[in-house]
Amino acid sequence: MSAYKLHAAITSVGHYVPPDVLDNAFFESYLDTTDEWIRSRTGIVERRILKQGATSDMAVLAAKQALERRGWTPDDVELIICCTVTPDMMFPSTACLIQEKLGAKNCWGYDLVAACSSFLFGVETAAQFVTSGRYKRVLLIGADKMSSIADYQDRNTCVLFGDGAGAITIEPTEEETGILDSYLRVDGTGAPFLHMKAGGSLRPASHETVNNRWHFVYQEGKQVFKRAVVDMAESAAHLVERNGMTGKDIAFLVPHQANLRIIDAARERMGLSPEQVMINIQKYGNTTSATIPICLSEWWADGKLKKGDHIVLSSFGAGYTWGAILVKWAY
Ligand code: UT7
Repeated sequence: MSAYKLHAAITSVGHYVPPDVLDNAFFESYLDTTDEWIRSRTGIVERRILKQGATSDMAVLAAKQALERRGWTPDDVELIICCTVTPDMMFPSTACLIQEKLGAKNCWGYDLVAACSSFLFGVETAAQFVTSGRYKRVLLIGADKMSSIADYQDRNTCVLFGDGAGAITIEPTEEETGILDSYLRVDGTGAPFLHMKAGGSLRPASHETVNNRWHFVYQEGKQVFKRAVVDMAESAAHLVERNGMTGKDIAFLVPHQANLRIIDAARERMGLSPEQVMINIQKYGNTTSATIPICLSEWWADGKLKKGDHIVLSSFGAGYTWGAILVKWAY
């Protein structure tokens, strides 16, 4: 059951992925890896790379599409929340840079960081602003230029990531649609297994940090996998069950796209068929904050999302951070 009287509805979606493709053959050409290893262990066939520009540039293009589809001008936006782990700069926030590039003159905004769960946590955050009655037009963006923090000499991590952006608009509705329920968690004991070692206040940039390649993603994949495969599936299944539903009531699971084997585990735990799961990891790899909104935008554009559909957004990422959100599609 929904916890809110006024509901927060997703009313538009948009996305942008850069045109340049990095396929598995590229990695075969200089790393000790194979197309077969990458496909079978992750499900990834290729990913998009932003050659010029920054996270805000992709975010703005995704946002423009979402705003156009909704019929809002940039001036209609009251709040921009930008979910990202690859901000253009440490400060100002990427939300400020997006505001300026969009020319949105009537809003405030900020960045939200929860690694691969950033967008999920952003949806819950945006919903609070809307259901409180305080804001009516929120622009939520998930955007990451993962190529800026992937170590292209580390075969364990560089094959996993791609660049992209997705955006949604969130606004109030009195209908029984929108963001209905959420189950969200963090567990800081996961920090050693997935993090960036330097660039923060703990280890500011120095010759040592650069020489040691500490400004890139560090991941102990197997450790993260073991938790992700259980916690993403369990949180999504728990959320569905506590709302009195089963897999049959769910039109789509919209999982964070980190690994096809993690997605499959969640699908099986929830008793869903392959057609009930949004998967585009083969095309884009892991775009961190952007995976879920890109899926929503692609499926909506293909006419597959219908008003009244129940969908479950779910993710697992660094922190650890994870959880699931139940949405009744509103348009
Ligand atoms: O989105 C944020 C959350 N992140 C995730 O959810 C990622 C979770 N983890 C994973 O998806 C998987 O652990 C990986 C895809 C990263 C790795 O798959 P795995 O089946 O867990 O492999 P592994 O890390 O246990 O490595 C198995 C072997 C190792 O060799 P040894 O030590 O057994 O000789 C790796 O060195 O595979 C090796 N390996 C590779 N081999 C070829 C690791 N990366 C590669 C590679 N090509 N690219």
